Amino acid sequence: MSTQKSQQDLWKQQVGEAAAQLIDEGMVVGLGTGTTANYLVLALGERVRQGLHIIGAVSSSQATMDLAASLNIPLTDLDHHPVLDIYIDGADEIDPQLQLIKGAGGALVREKIVASSAKHFVVIADPSKLVKQLGHIFPLPVEVTPLAKTPVKLHLEALGANVTLRVRNGETFITDNKNNILDCTFPQGITDPVTLDAKIQSIVGVVETGLFLNMAEKVLIGGPEGVKVLHR
Ligand code: 5RP
Repeated sequence: MSTQKSQQDLWKQQVGEAAAQLIDEGMVVGLGTGTTANYLVLALGERVRQGLHIIGAVSSSQATMDLAASLNIPLTDLDHHPVLDIYIDGADEIDPQLQLIKGAGGALVREKIVASSAKHFVVIADPSKLVKQLGHIFPLPVEVTPLAKTPVKLHLEALGANVTLRVRNGETFITDNKNNILDCTFPQGITDPVTLDAKIQSIVGVVETGLFLNMAEKVLIGGPEGVKVLHR
């Protein structure tokens, strides 16, 4: 592991631990997915071990649910608790308006559903996730019904995207919802995320996009000077 990587990891841990302090007694909490969110879950597990009582946690992926269960964090779901007090998750890219690309881990649909069910959506990240414009570092993931993956790919190409079907370990990637992901890059970046999202959402067979627009209330960034808070 390189020095840079371990430093980045320390910042993820720092911000995950800071975000765990936002969780109060009696809350229903949404837990995100990814390496930064894992630090949040670990820190929440420690708080629960020390006596914090939350009503329950809704996880945005099976992986997070398994980690939370292993730490004895009480679990619930949106059928039992359709309104969450807070949802905390990582992101792949964050622009100055706090518009996000998420979904590198493939959990974008559940993440967007859980985020939309929360009174407050807080993003946690290290400084590498801050960008001037979306779409220059991470591809935009689009989750599709498997039957529609090829026609949807053509529609996305017509919108100017270079499109790749996500593959992991030599196999077509299957999401927790049994769908596929088309990763889209845009040569000029994403100049108008709201219009692009509306166009992609209108394609039949698209389940969801990784554009999380006007959703994040604030962003916590771990870094060399401690945790900074960015507001929308
Ligand atoms: C998963 C996500 C993650 O939040 C995003 O990929 C950030 O992950 P990490 O904290 O590992 O950098 O959207 O679908």
